[in-house]
Amino acid sequence: MLYIPVILGSVRRGRLSARAAYFIIERMRQTRRIQPELLDLLEYEFPMLEERLRFRDDPPPLVGEFSEKLSRADSLVIVTPEYNNSFPGVLKNCLDYFKPEYRRKPIGIVTVSSADFGGVNCLAQLRLVTLAMGAFPIPASLPIPKAAERLREDGAPLDPLLEQRAQSFLDELIWFTEAIVAKKALDLSR
Ligand SMILES: Cc1cc2nc3c(=O)[nH]c(=O)nc-3n(C[C@H](O)[C@H](O)[C@H](O)COP(=O)(O)O)c2cc1C
Repeated sequence: MLYIPVILGSVRRGRLSARAAYFIIERMRQTRRIQPELLDLLEYEFPMLEERLRFRDDPPPLVGEFSEKLSRADSLVIVTPEYNNSFPGVLKNCLDYFKPEYRRKPIGIVTVSSADFGGVNCLAQLRLVTLAMGAFPIPASLPIPKAAERLREDGAPLDPLLEQRAQSFLDELIWFTEAIVAKKALDLSR
């Protein structure tokens, strides 16, 4: 089983991104090859970054737990809304706490927007950030425009096309994750 946490990058009241996170987690479970886990920034409440975790001897509460889950992860999914052509500051604040935890991990990005475009600008920006994190974005992405029309509050899909696109996205994520997991196992056996 691949362990793939899903970071939910919106803490906004009435956030639509939660629907996208519940949706993709359910689809991940259905593959029977992934053990997903929701990492909801609303629950972790990261303080504004004073220093990265590895340089602190007084880690804020729950940040160590978050780090441990990232370290165990075979790859990651990030669900993010588009705010002002980018992703939310709360998500960047969280991502900046860590670095070795991400090393050589594939990252799948799900973007959420209430408009027609589905968050292509925040996708481009977040992809750039993942490279600086020492990870890499998979070529596939899952933009969800007009999310309120496509997903119910509990994440149940209202659009069959979205289910197909989610499947293609997860097929790619699994491919890259398995490739990296195999290479890491090979390196360890040498
Ligand atoms: C501060 C802010 C800025 C936004 N900027 C954009 C934008 O640049 N492009 C866009 O398509 N939607 C934009 N939106 C609309 C959001 O994509 C939409 O509200 C979406 O539901 C946000 O996700 P959330 O509900 O999980 O917070 C913005 C929303 C907020 C709150």
